[in-house]
Amino acid sequence: MAYSSFAQFVQALEQAGELTRVSTPVETDLIIAAWADREMKSPGGGKALLFEQPLIEGKPSKFPLAINTMGSQRRMALALKVENVDEISREIQLILKAKPPTDLREGWSLLKQGIHLLHARPKHVKDAACQEVVHRFAEGSTSASGELTLRDIPILKCWPKDGGKFVTLPNVHTRDPESGARNVGVYRMQVYDERTTGMHWQVHKVGARHGQRYYQRNERMPVAVCLGGDPAYTFAATAPLPDGLDEILFAGFLRKKSVELVSCKTIDLEVPADVDFVLEGYVQPGETRPEGPFGDHTGFYTAVEDYPIFHLTAITHRRDAIYPTTIVGIPPMEDFYLGDASVRIFLPVFKMNFPELVDMALPPEGVFHNLVFVSIRKQYPYQAFKVMHGLWGMGQMMFSKYIVVVDEDCDVHNTSEVLFRLCANTDPQRDSTIIKNPSDSLDHAPSTQNVGSHMGFDATRKLRGEGYPREWPELVRMSDEAQRLVDQLRNKTG
Ligand SMILES: Cc1cc2nc3c(=O)[nH]c(=O)nc-3n(C[C@H](O)[C@H](O)[C@H](O)COP(=O)(O)O)c2cc1C
Repeated sequence: MAYSSFAQFVQALEQAGELTRVSTPVETDLIIAAWADREMKSPGGGKALLFEQPLIEGKPSKFPLAINTMGSQRRMALALKVENVDEISREIQLILKAKPPTDLREGWSLLKQGIHLLHARPKHVKDAACQEVVHRFAEGSTSASGELTLRDIPILKCWPKDGGKFVTLPNVHTRDPESGARNVGVYRMQVYDERTTGMHWQVHKVGARHGQRYYQRNERMPVAVCLGGDPAYTFAATAPLPDGLDEILFAGFLRKKSVELVSCKTIDLEVPADVDFVLEGYVQPGETRPEGPFGDHTGFYTAVEDYPIFHLTAITHRRDAIYPTTIVGIPPMEDFYLGDASVRIFLPVFKMNFPELVDMALPPEGVFHNLVFVSIRKQYPYQAFKVMHGLWGMGQMMFSKYIVVVDEDCDVHNTSEVLFRLCANTDPQRDSTIIKNPSDSLDHAPSTQNVGSHMGFDATRKLRGEGYPREWPELVRMSDEAQRLVDQLRNKTG
């Protein structure tokens, strides 16, 4: 069954030997981040860390803090309650195979139907663990004496030159004022004071689009930010789901149990009832404030930019709430495992659009979009370019800076093997293409933010129709017979 609380997930990590408890008091200003950075960079992603006594400016917080809880393939699988996330991929494949779709659009709608058919529809409840304790803020006040505020939550300052403390794993719930469609995305939030934060939804993200609709109507936008609960919620919020596929439905599918939703106390939105904290509030049309700098996924600080301001109207929480967080920075970091799980889970959907696609990987060095390796079963000339262009047109794959396409017998999860094919199989001028596309807002390399060039390499064997007049050479491989003999000989010697 699904996790009924974040604490239950933490317990499962501990039972699996995947968690280190830290009972010593540790500062939230850089020190927890420095500890977590070492852990994330240790082989296989290290362990999850539970800081039982995080210190806020030297004083113990009443909430423990968990970090790196999804920072390995094993912990990602534990978060989604499977042995291996490929199980989920197989389930999606089954749903898609029920009636083979003819194109991607049909595939997504079939996937949506399949998800509806399973246990995905949310239920509505009146009582919720996330509202065991309720702190409302009076309109206009900057603090609430005696009440819990953002200063009481062990929010991290992650890197020395960060502009302040940042909430790094918030599940930001918004609603389209016209269609009523819900969205949940993870967009970091810089803490400005006890009751206000930044809202870093980048221009290409759904939260920003919902915001735009409210601004055009000049209406205050309700926003609810959830922290914790079943880790499937956070995973769903980070997954690059196509527009219209509701994260709450997807989370219900992942956890094989409907998500129970409860109405917020001070705004007109619903949130999962079992999360640890809910920050209720609003964004005011036209109001922005400088956000950053922040040590980002790219491994560099992102510059200060104007972003909307989130005003809190209430904080509700479980009595035993745990504050979940992460840090991003020079890879590998915890976020690599979230991205990796997304690619693996949605591989059947990609395969549906590209029948020649065998496998796909986004290696950690590329921090998601910078580097994509794809293997294909090549049949006809320029097929590798067709796949690249298709990917550049698909949702957040539009940001892919470098795409390398290899033949099916190359393991895309082995970067060294892909680089070998890239170097050996390409004539740079003939086998590369440069296109223009939207760029990730975080990418500091393009001269103009949000737009740039993207490059594709066809590292597959070349066909005559691709202007290669000779026979493509054969890869050097040892014979099976010789291998068997060596195995026998080594066993005797050993
Ligand atoms: C740890 C972490 C932090 C993230 N921070 C941001 C952020 O600050 N702003 C943003 O636009 N996307 C951020 N993302 C990426 C989005 O969560 C992701 O693109 C998601 O698919 C967006 O959802 P949407 O398509 O519903 O907008 C972050 C992802 C992770 C894993």
